[in-house]
Amino acid sequence: MSDTAIAAPPRTSLANGALQTSGIIWFLLAVIGQWTFVYYILVAFGGPAVAGNPEAWNDTQPIHGYIAGDLIGNLFFASHVLLAAVITFGGTLQLVPQIRAHFIGFHRWNGRVFMTVAFIMAISGIYMAWGPRETRLTDIGGIGVSLNGVLIMIAATMALRHVFAKRIDQHRRWAMRTFILVNGVWFYRVGFMGWIIVNQGPLGSTSSLDGPFDLTIAFASYLLPLGILELYFRAQDSHNAGRKWLTSGLLLAATAFMAVGIFGAYMFMWSPHL
Ligand code: HEM
Repeated sequence: MSDTAIAAPPRTSLANGALQTSGIIWFLLAVIGQWTFVYYILVAFGGPAVAGNPEAWNDTQPIHGYIAGDLIGNLFFASHVLLAAVITFGGTLQLVPQIRAHFIGFHRWNGRVFMTVAFIMAISGIYMAWGPRETRLTDIGGIGVSLNGVLIMIAATMALRHVFAKRIDQHRRWAMRTFILVNGVWFYRVGFMGWIIVNQGPLGSTSSLDGPFDLTIAFASYLLPLGILELYFRAQDSHNAGRKWLTSGLLLAATAFMAVGIFGAYMFMWSPHL
């Protein structure tokens, strides 16, 4: 065996370690940000629902939120928002390897709930955007979040098909794609605030959310994280240490931006309602 052949594995395993560590750091930060979002949802929407005071939903300044007399529309809004807490919290638990290893029964049930709620969220969201309430600020913004909904249903179906066929590695990848897509609305908020803080102002954004940045983030909020996930998968499969290091760097840069965005979303979007 040549010297280079002996030297090669440690180089790759170090790079593999870096890739895995940056993935874990990304995930831990995402969990903090997503649980904060869940807490906000429970306080701002769940609390008033339990107290029989749904008018208070409108304190968060949704596009429509609660409309007196519109029972069906209000029920759609309430179920969509409250299930958002269930899916966001449940999604984080699905990705924890220790839970999969030691509590596979929980993983299966939580997975079933996650997939069912993903479909309900996507369908109820698309209905709210294009149904009688027409809850959208711009058509392009509405198309952006609706495409997110369609992709959620496709990815969830793929994840289910692979797990039924016992193709666990394919299932894991499609489940991670579903996770990213389901968190599209969370990435939207975090990306929006990150952008404003980095640029020290709403560059390319207008109050009616029809500026170039607003129309771009309507799609980029989920396509960009999805693209980074694909790069992560490719780096995992690759034997090229350089590629793994590069992807780890990209992931850490994305994590730093995400940290700024989470801070901004907490300070300016969520904490005023807590
Ligand atoms: C599956 C992941 C999703 C989550 C976690 C989620 C979360 C939320 C939350 C928390 C709200 C309350 C408003 C706020 O505080 O910002 C909301 C409202 C809304 N969502 Fe979603 N959503 C998801 C998917 C979708 C999809 C796919 C659509 C498709 C069009 C959609 C359309 C809407 C609409 C129209 C509203 C009402 C906004 C208003 O009345 O102001 N959502 N969603």
